[in-house]
Amino acid sequence: MRILVTGGAGFIGSNFVRAAVRERPDSRVTVLDALTYAGSRDSLRGIDDKIEFVEGDIADSALVDSLVSGCDAVVHFAAESHNDNSLIDPWPFVRTNIIGTYTLLQAIREHGVRYHHVSTDEVYGDLELDDPTKFTEHTAYNPSSPYSSTKAASDMLVRAWVRSYGIRATLSNCSNNYGPYQHVEKFIPRQITNVLTGVRPKLYGAGLNVRDWIHVDDHNAAVWKILEEGQTGRTYLIGADGELDNLTVVRTILELMGHDPDDFDHVKDRAGHDLRYAIDASTLRDELGWSPRYNDFREGLQATIDWYRDNRAWWEKNKDAVEMRYETQGA
Ligand code: NAD
Ligand code: DAU
Repeated sequence: MRILVTGGAGFIGSNFVRAAVRERPDSRVTVLDALTYAGSRDSLRGIDDKIEFVEGDIADSALVDSLVSGCDAVVHFAAESHNDNSLIDPWPFVRTNIIGTYTLLQAIREHGVRYHHVSTDEVYGDLELDDPTKFTEHTAYNPSSPYSSTKAASDMLVRAWVRSYGIRATLSNCSNNYGPYQHVEKFIPRQITNVLTGVRPKLYGAGLNVRDWIHVDDHNAAVWKILEEGQTGRTYLIGADGELDNLTVVRTILELMGHDPDDFDHVKDRAGHDLRYAIDASTLRDELGWSPRYNDFREGLQATIDWYRDNRAWWEKNKDAVEMRYETQGA
């Protein structure tokens, strides 16, 4: 399969490309990535000779058309992905997540190529802490942030292109990923690298917000399954029953790194902060036979801590700028 991976220099995309090179030697991978602050060629180091890398924008219709015309499938990871950034300046989110997806869809329509759209559970809004239900494929869309509203808009474009133009597309909405190559602006890498640089971890508000953690390799294995066996037009929810509140995650990171679990600061809460996400992935498990390999969060977290300890050169160059930005936000 000739496969075009957008956003393949970002966190989840680079792990996807690494898995493709490792586990699918028959696939030919082209990465299209604009190398924004969130993307790095270093995330693909060591496999450069096994892939084609194109630096470019998913909103560039001529470039996108020429790349899509030469492939069998597109897996679309490229996005502006950080909620805190979207609260400060929503425009890049509107441009990349909506206009960029529109541009890809027009090329998919033109060339009849298989398309998988990677999205987020945040399109469903949030749940109460004591709500016994979880998000399913039938939960109504109710996004809270500029980021999640642009992802919701992009999902709607895909659904409309399936219905109106018959494109061969599947969608997936996944919960919070953790693992190697995640940008230090995000919660888990920020706290690990804080500890590694002698800074106290920063918890938004009281830390009662719940996220449903999944290892990035489990997310990507599910994307492969859906790409190969999913039904056109369907949405699949991806999650690994990993609900934890942020306070527990911070305390676990400190404990695993040999520090006092209370050695963190409470900082200003995020505006409009979603309370809880929880995924019911039974369709994916029952219909496609997917199940996660990482079932012990502490083990996956320890491996992630070890990766950041061993790969300082990968993240150190971004750390100061991220912390300066957070400081101006009181976070
Ligand atoms: P990321 O921010 O780490 O990576 C995004 C990548 O997209 C970067 O390499 C960046 O350079 C590239 N990019 C941005 N704008 C571009 C443009 N206009 N043209 C081409 N490339 C561009 O994001 P991530 O965490 O790896 O997320 C990947 C996808 O998965 C996103 O669509 C996100 O919404 C979705 N998702 C993420 C999570 C999570 O926990 N991180 C969970 C569910 C879904
Ligand atoms: O649910 C899927 C989503 O998960 C993806 O769509 C997004 O792309 C991804 O960034 C992530 O969104 P979150 O906003 O949940 O992730 P983030 O890592 O920014 O924050 C996780 C939780 O931790 C959230 O409740 C906010 C909190 N937080 C975050 C940071 C950066 C803190 O308490 N302290 C921090 O320093």
